[in-house]
Amino acid sequence: MSTLKFSIRSDAPERAATPCLVVGIHEERVLGAAAQRVDAAAGGAIRRLVESGDASGKAGTSIVLFGLPGVAAERVLVVGLGDAKKFDAAAYHRAANDSARALKALPIASAYSTLTGLDVPGRDDAWKLRTAALAADAQAYRYTATFKPKEAPKTAQLEAVEFAAAAPAPRALAEAGAIAAGVRFAKELGNLPPNICNPSYVAAQAKRIADAHAGVTLEVLEREDMAKLGMGSLLGVAQGSANPPKLIVLHWRGKGDASRPYALVGKGITFDTGGISLKPGAGMEEMKFDMCGAAGVLGAFHAAVELKLPLNLVCIVPAVENMPDGNAYRPSDILTSMSGLTIEVLNTDAEGRLILCDALTYAQKFDPEVIIDAATLTGACVVALGKHASGLMTKDDELADQLLAAGTRTHDRAWRLPLWDDYQGQLESGFADVANIGGKNAGAITAGCFLARFTNGRRWAHLDIAGTAWDEGRKGLATGRPVPLLVQYLIDRCAT
Ligand code: BES
Ligand code: MN
Ligand code: ZN
Repeated sequence: MSTLKFSIRSDAPERAATPCLVVGIHEERVLGAAAQRVDAAAGGAIRRLVESGDASGKAGTSIVLFGLPGVAAERVLVVGLGDAKKFDAAAYHRAANDSARALKALPIASAYSTLTGLDVPGRDDAWKLRTAALAADAQAYRYTATFKPKEAPKTAQLEAVEFAAAAPAPRALAEAGAIAAGVRFAKELGNLPPNICNPSYVAAQAKRIADAHAGVTLEVLEREDMAKLGMGSLLGVAQGSANPPKLIVLHWRGKGDASRPYALVGKGITFDTGGISLKPGAGMEEMKFDMCGAAGVLGAFHAAVELKLPLNLVCIVPAVENMPDGNAYRPSDILTSMSGLTIEVLNTDAEGRLILCDALTYAQKFDPEVIIDAATLTGACVVALGKHASGLMTKDDELADQLLAAGTRTHDRAWRLPLWDDYQGQLESGFADVANIGGKNAGAITAGCFLARFTNGRRWAHLDIAGTAWDEGRKGLATGRPVPLLVQYLIDRCAT
């Protein structure tokens, strides 16, 4: 399923021919500028609804008016914006999503939204356009891959959204389109079941990206290649699964060969049973999402390539299944990582860090400018930050600020946790250089500290997306996070 088509127009809302015009109203009878014009053209139709109480202007409410006299649009969707005095970036984000959800439910192929004309403190036109377009596409996404094919719907389906803008904004629309496609890619890969989305399938998706874009090259390392490199940690996790592991490496050369690449590394556990330290049955199905870090870095890579960002990028995905089996690795096994450090396995369910450490060592062979990894690494991170913020860990304050800013701008927010060496003592082992778990305290941080041991003091940041990569519950879907944050970070690097 492809993304919505986005474009801009600037004609007067009341005279715009469209299946559906979107206007906003605040609480306490404050109409947005476009709502005022439509109201005037329609002889006060919106004001009457406000006065009767049918349209409250509260956030989360909306109402569809059909065939308003004096207005060219077939329908007008009136969206509640909440308190006018408190209308900020978060409220705009909410209104954009609310209106997109309402549009998706209507039998229309296109719509014209004037929400982009609202004033949002501290945000420019490009941001308003991009945010509205991304919200529209996020709401339009449906997961259909594993249902019995349905007959084509009899009513029109939303395919395009036009946004009010005073001036052309090709860059903002291109960014919205590329990020939306990257988010969809990450959602779809995340949502697919693990009997389809296994390590080979992830590699095949990477190949699709490489085949579709000039300037992208792909390398897939097989078990034997990894054995030659000494990736005993990654291979230890992989050995209990009948699905062979893959180390997927994509390159984008958007800048001269001499320029050091940005490296993105994503945890690609296509299913995490816990291994011999088996997880409880209840909720284990959610562990199909344990490759969302991989999906996120691949989606971000895809977006960066679509935008032809003038930088070099390498995307590294260790794709492995964590299964219990007669050949599986066990608690007390000692693994030798590619770095040479030995690891005592105290819990086979702390497998993400064991595949990432070898991927991080491998990443260094490209002498990257920065390494950023994304991983559904710890339940502890969900306890600490819940479902709203990804955990960010890095020793580099400048890198932290850049990533936090990118998350704020895209409403794909992260929150920093300390990565002080004071926590390293929790990873001591009596039998190897490091243990793979750090005990009950600060589980998200000790996982980060484990990874830090494999980064050799390089500029590196870790995003724990265990809470943010999918929505909880039986029908919870992948969110596509942290694609927006990562793409924004890369866009920002090209601007400075
Ligand atoms: N993939 C899980 C982390 C996870 C758990 C993400 C729940 C989202 C929801 C990871 O591989 C894992 O099992 N981590 C363990 C680490 C522990 C054994 C130190 C955890 O968080 O319990
Ligand atoms: Mn696990
Ligand atoms: Zn896991």
